[in-house]
Amino acid sequence: MACRPWVVRRSARHGRGVFAVARIPAGTRIIEYTGELISEAEGERRYPTLPDGAEEPEHTYLLTLDDDRVIDANVGGNAARFINHSCAPNCEPIAYGDRMWIVAVRDIRPGEELAYDYAIELDEPHTPARKRRFPCLCEAKTCRGSILKPKRQPLHPLVRRAHARWGPR
Ligand SMILES: C[S@@+](CC[C@H](N)C(=O)[O-])C[C@H]1O[C@@H](n2cnc3c(N)ncnc32)[C@H](O)[C@@H]1O
Ligand SMILES: [Zn+2]
Repeated sequence: MACRPWVVRRSARHGRGVFAVARIPAGTRIIEYTGELISEAEGERRYPTLPDGAEEPEHTYLLTLDDDRVIDANVGGNAARFINHSCAPNCEPIAYGDRMWIVAVRDIRPGEELAYDYAIELDEPHTPARKRRFPCLCEAKTCRGSILKPKRQPLHPLVRRAHARWGPR
């Protein structure tokens, strides 16, 4: 495998994305998601949830590490912050201690866009209007039409298997 089996380039889904340039076997730790480790409260202070009716869609580089902490990739972030969402993900962020890695949940072919399920769950109900504020353009057969994850829906089977197989013991 190439030492860096991915590149950053424009994505039809949104802005920039990260694309495989070599075969990436399932279970590979592809890239660490770097950034400043901050509390969830500090993340909410830095990037308050926009009110309903806000014109701009939500767009941050925050990734949840655990129940209390998030990684802010606006500070010290690397290319992992450009990985877009898919409702049929081929990778998944997995926490190992204080570090988060993007791990392949299946074999990934050259040319495929790397994408994990952002699985965003708001505290508020996921009304049709709120779902429209978080549109998804992943084009998977199973696309939910929104980056929001229905509240009681389990994670994608490949994602659950990845945590069981390659997550921390
Ligand atoms: C962390 S950024 C991902 C990188 C982004 N493409 C860029 O160029 O900065 C997350 C944002 O990308 C957009 N995005 C990611 N996946 C998407 C998808 N499947 N469909 C539509 N927009 C997406 C959303 O606006 C989301 O808030
Ligand atoms: Zn989708």
